Amino acid sequence: MKILHATSELYPLIKTGGLADVLGSLPFAQKALGHDARAVLPYYRHVRDLLPDAALVAERDTFGGHIAVRYAEYNGLGLYLIDAPHLYDRPGNPYHNEHYFDYADNVIRFAVLGWTAAALATGLDEVWGKADILHAHDWQAGLAPAYLNAWNAYIKSVFTIHNIAYQGIFQSKHLGEVGLPWEMFHVDGVEFHGQISFLKAGLFYADHITTVSPTYADEITREPAANGMSGLLYTRKQEGRLSGVLNGVDDKVWNPQTDAALAKTFHPKAMQGKKADKKAVQAFFGLNDDDKAMLTVMVSRLTPQKGADFLLESLHEKLPANPDLQFALLGSGAPEMEQAFVRLAEQYPQQVGVYIGYNEELAHQLIGGGDVIVIPSRFEPCGLTQLYGLKYGTLPLVRRTGGLADTVVQTDEETLKNKTATGFVFDEPTAGALGGALENALSLWRKPRAWSPVRQHAMAQDFGWHKAAESYDACYRSLL
Ligand code: ADP
Ligand code: GLC
Repeated sequence: MKILHATSELYPLIKTGGLADVLGSLPFAQKALGHDARAVLPYYRHVRDLLPDAALVAERDTFGGHIAVRYAEYNGLGLYLIDAPHLYDRPGNPYHNEHYFDYADNVIRFAVLGWTAAALATGLDEVWGKADILHAHDWQAGLAPAYLNAWNAYIKSVFTIHNIAYQGIFQSKHLGEVGLPWEMFHVDGVEFHGQISFLKAGLFYADHITTVSPTYADEITREPAANGMSGLLYTRKQEGRLSGVLNGVDDKVWNPQTDAALAKTFHPKAMQGKKADKKAVQAFFGLNDDDKAMLTVMVSRLTPQKGADFLLESLHEKLPANPDLQFALLGSGAPEMEQAFVRLAEQYPQQVGVYIGYNEELAHQLIGGGDVIVIPSRFEPCGLTQLYGLKYGTLPLVRRTGGLADTVVQTDEETLKNKTATGFVFDEPTAGALGGALENALSLWRKPRAWSPVRQHAMAQDFGWHKAAESYDACYRSLL
């Protein structure tokens, strides 16, 4: 099967979050199943630096100006790169400038991504020919199924929602500028409350919609989780055209037995290395060098989604009461949140360490050295760091929502007895509920003989990409 993924991120070439991790793994898992999977993404400055010699495939004059489509292979994966310096040759983040302002021409930048994906799927690369499946990810690629529809191209398309909170909404006047017909400006089309929504375009015109966990697939058929899309999504669910496929973990990138970022690697049957990793994190942040403290870590974007606000409130209460509680954060996002955590670290220097910024290596070190990883999200389509935590024996403490609910088993009397516990789960998005889960974790932590089997069971979980690749396979086949 020829599969073309359309994406704005792909690890390790360009990453702001989990979308990149997924696109850095799924196509490889599909190739392992024997498919010809490729991806198309913008030739951002950073990508050009990493893959400078991409070969020319085709050139076109589009509504977004002159573009060249180039081809390069990354670790054997075929990548189509949209070479349009006037759109993509900018430093840093793919979506906004250094002051966190979205680029004013994002409507064109990502319409060109959708257009090029549709053009490739319909044979722009004469050597590759047409794709069997165009698989578009998140709003940035949402127009791709709309172009296929506008061109009456009978290429099957799948649209995956990684996060419905980001919708790509632009003023209606832009519709003419991106080469789509005005008939599409309709409630059964790209229109959303008088504006154009790239997300809605993907949802409406794709042959099938998936999202990244079964629970989130259910949650987004209702408000408020659906962010205004519940009508359409509920209908698609009834039609059997919406499903949830849980993300996986890339064993080549996240594996405590081979992880080069760790001070020491470790293994479920040889956990000594994890002690050294914990010591290294404590030393890095200047925390008490105390093996008996429960090192709780967080690696996250600091946006309202992630619940860092009520985590902060809970930590202010729990840190003074529990000298054996430590907290280390790697995160970036809302400046006032960043500042609040920096102040927390100043207040509790022996217990709290904070690193503001983006740092791939430190992410591995925290997840490797931690005892607990906290993910108190208000909503979470899948979440990947809890999966990394499980694999590294760093027990996830999560809110029961989306993919977090699907992947972490609460520790209680029953799950301890039947040996299914893998972490700590709470329900309400409040400091009180989170604090209860922290107490639960601390009480298990203080009984090392009880902690160790839970950790072993967590590490034995299998969230390999092969499962997801097989589910997408079944989905594609049902369309073809
Ligand atoms: P989301 O995509 O909503 O941000 P996920 O849990 O799916 O959440 O994926 C987050 C990814 O981004 C993980 O690979 C995580 O390790 C990484 N990440 C988040 N914040 C940082 C950071 N400050 N530094 C390094 N990696 C980070
Ligand atoms: C999004 C979601 C996250 C998910 C990731 C990859 O960024 O917020 O929950 O894991 O996409 O699918």
